[in-house]
Amino acid sequence: MRIAMIGTGYVGLVSGACFADFGHHVTCVDQDMAKIAALEAGIMPIWEPGLEALVTANVAQGRLDFTTALAAGIAGAEAVFIAVGTPSRRGDGHADLTFVYAAVRELARALTGPVVVVTKSTVPVGTGDEIARILVEEGAPAGTSVASNPEFLREGAAIRDFKIPDRIIVGAEDERAREVMREIYRPLFLNQAPIVFTGRRTAELTKYAANAFLAMKISFINEMADLCEAVGADVQEVARGIGLDNRIGAKFLHAGPGYGGSCFPKDTLALLRTAEEAGVKQRIIATVVAVNDARKAGNADRVRRAVGGDLTGKKIGVLGLTFKPNTDDMRDAPSIPLIEGLIAGGASVTAFDPVGREQAEPLLAGAEFAADAYAVADGADALVVVTEWDEFRGIDLGEMARRMRGNALVDLRNVYDPAEAARAGLDYRGVGRGTFSTREGT
Ligand SMILES: NC(=O)c1ccc[n+]([C@@H]2O[C@H](COP(=O)([O-])OP(=O)(O)OC[C@H]3O[C@@H](n4cnc5c(N)ncnc54)[C@H](O)[C@@H]3O)[C@@H](O)[C@H]2O)c1
Repeated sequence: MRIAMIGTGYVGLVSGACFADFGHHVTCVDQDMAKIAALEAGIMPIWEPGLEALVTANVAQGRLDFTTALAAGIAGAEAVFIAVGTPSRRGDGHADLTFVYAAVRELARALTGPVVVVTKSTVPVGTGDEIARILVEEGAPAGTSVASNPEFLREGAAIRDFKIPDRIIVGAEDERAREVMREIYRPLFLNQAPIVFTGRRTAELTKYAANAFLAMKISFINEMADLCEAVGADVQEVARGIGLDNRIGAKFLHAGPGYGGSCFPKDTLALLRTAEEAGVKQRIIATVVAVNDARKAGNADRVRRAVGGDLTGKKIGVLGLTFKPNTDDMRDAPSIPLIEGLIAGGASVTAFDPVGREQAEPLLAGAEFAADAYAVADGADALVVVTEWDEFRGIDLGEMARRMRGNALVDLRNVYDPAEAARAGLDYRGVGRGTFSTREGT
């Protein structure tokens, strides 16, 4: 089948490359000329494990190509996916659908025959209805239909998630859309991936409900971590103890600096706005958002306490900047308010991230960047682990301690064994490991 993908970001590029790998012919369209030129030269615009090899192989086999020209890109396509960004609208938290509607208008004017327009972007309930209305308004060919196919891939494991999904959600209102979607995903149900057909509105809401639930698990365990610190319990063991219960599940129960990234922060806010407009309270998610905001805002204070209560003149080494490992994505990363808070408190910050520096540098005015993980320890009063990159797990803590002038290790991801850190001479403070109650500074 011929597929066009409008928007060649994390989701569009990964989805396009994977569809091509299933044997479809995919054209990825993007208005960003530099991005398309880079892709045509074999340079990936994002850092995602396995992506370059997948793209290169499918381009070489003639199943994947790139263009900035939408009309040419959609020629002959039976399905046109919309995978443009839907960021938070400044000020009110609504999903900003400007990019979606602009893409749909341009598409409608370029269509020469009916297609299935599939929304892969995360969009609020009712967006599919509005897209259908715009298509008619712009004179799209009769028989053009609109489906919702929200994407659940995780950055850092995006290709695996796309190819071995827990489920595929398709919201459609007509049989032709369902048939086209079944055909597109056929290679996956040969692997038994469950495909769930729903109405369009249900599919749209399912995506928000999934992200809100996962964000809730994170905020739940973060609050439980605070309680563990106060009463001398270990949240890692609490998480394991509850996570072994199949009804709860072990995933998303890692206490830490609060969730960030391109999805949870904006999607929880957008869900709240949808609920508000519908006149329905979503008190749990409102609390999740507040808990997470407070968590991110409080991380600098954890470091302040670890260095004796005053950040003035302190030198802090930060390990990891991206919102999670295996991505270069810095959107809403907890490292941003942390580093801003440290600098505002009078500290100087030297940071290292294995791949995120280019994205991070423009966002972190005042921070310095080290060339490797060990260099952040040089002369530092405290080290803070913000992102749990694998390369930090195996670090020689003794060597870090020798390079430091102080000895505080604030492990916001609980990657180190407290006993090992103590043997290295470090004053270890994890999250929810009962350590804050016994070593509290001012
Ligand atoms: N990143 C994730 O992990 C993830 C996971 C699931 C769902 N989503 C959702 O997928 C959507 C896309 O997210 P992303 O992270 O891939 O965004 P992104 O910002 O990485 O990419 C969006 C791309 O769309 C392009 N674009 C915008 N308007 C266009 C137009 N009119 N024509 C052509 N190209 C256009 C931009 O230039 C950009 O390259 C969002 O709704 C997001 O919520 C993201």
